Amino acid sequence: MSAATTNGLHPDRAKIVGLIDRSRPNWSLEQPFYVDPAVYELERELLFPREWSLVAHASEVPEKGRYIVRQLFDEEIIVVRFGDGEDDIAAYYNVCTHRGSRLCTKDGRSRLLVCPYHAWSFRLTGELQTRQDLPEGVDPEALGLHRVPSKCIGGLVLCGLDKACLPDVQPVADALIDGLRQNGIDRARIAARKTYPTKANWKLVLENFSECYHCRPAHPEYFRVNAHVKVTAMRDEDKAVQWQEELEAWHSVIGDAEFNKGAWESGDIDTAPYGMYRKPIGPGRMTLSDDGQPVSCLMGGRTSYDGGETGFLLGRMSFVSSANDYVTLFQMIPRGPTETDVILTWLVDADADAGIDVDAITWMWDVTTVQDKTITEHNADGVASRAYRPGPYTALETQTASFVEVYLSNMRHLITGERPAVA
Ligand code: FES
Ligand code: FE
Repeated sequence: MSAATTNGLHPDRAKIVGLIDRSRPNWSLEQPFYVDPAVYELERELLFPREWSLVAHASEVPEKGRYIVRQLFDEEIIVVRFGDGEDDIAAYYNVCTHRGSRLCTKDGRSRLLVCPYHAWSFRLTGELQTRQDLPEGVDPEALGLHRVPSKCIGGLVLCGLDKACLPDVQPVADALIDGLRQNGIDRARIAARKTYPTKANWKLVLENFSECYHCRPAHPEYFRVNAHVKVTAMRDEDKAVQWQEELEAWHSVIGDAEFNKGAWESGDIDTAPYGMYRKPIGPGRMTLSDDGQPVSCLMGGRTSYDGGETGFLLGRMSFVSSANDYVTLFQMIPRGPTETDVILTWLVDADADAGIDVDAITWMWDVTTVQDKTITEHNADGVASRAYRPGPYTALETQTASFVEVYLSNMRHLITGERPAVA
């Protein structure tokens, strides 16, 4: 890229474009991308408003009038059920249109949303209900709640910050809805939830999440349970071929060879990334549990265990792992240049026994996420050192390399307005 392309940019932005232009393909990012508040501020302004993120499960707002307060990037939002239909869920910024107070301070149920400051009230569909105190000439219709774009897909509530620049989410819904239903995600209830505050930039969290190169040294339990990981992490080409054959044979028996699909690595900023894949967990294992034995009842109308795990990728920050009898939702929420919240929510079938063993259900992903938090924080500490220099991604980190490449290309596009040469 020529220096001329950065002419006219604010010096801070020109500096970041310079860093992007000197980045080596397939090498980790320059230090400022992981620590610099100026980079984070640009991401906050340009990138985050374009991302659809998982914020809730529909069972959290089971009937009309139920509302919950949730985090969407650096914003607090209210998710509310305004009707009885499956998709009658709306989201609003948690900001009163009178003088800006928080409207809801905790989850609840109500016919109207009432501000705790001066008691203005709003309908569940967002319109201002209060009329009596409005000064003459002020149009109450213009004082409805600020809407947050939202979409309910198979029980998952996705939201985004800015309607004006969000990509169309319908292709994600069209691609994933059948898979989400087949896995019973639309008729599930929450069994547990846990937040893992991680002292690391959100990209380090996602880079780690995108590769399993670290699985053998860092995740002994995950490595033991997931046979396929052993194959990739052993770097043995024969074993990798064997795994591919086993995978294809398994898919042909299960009858879902066409299941894998996605536009996850699309570099197009105007396309919402998504993906879906299925794979067997490991020989003799029915579910993702310590001993491979069931931990709850089957989900999604299954009549027997097929020992598979289905993965769903929704946008860049949200993932779903679905075993036959429980589901884990992953949300990554950037909270600052060097802070990211990772939230895990475990789902079971709506009719699952009240006495289910929650520790058995949460075991696999809790133990793994605690380990991921530790290794990612160590990564963040090292990356902040004066000695840090970008390092090369290996053949076992191709997805991570791809994530970084797309990130750089998108940021450059958003800062300069220039389309990438290769989409
Ligand atoms: Fe909400 Fe005044 S700020 S009613
Ligand atoms: Fe990990």
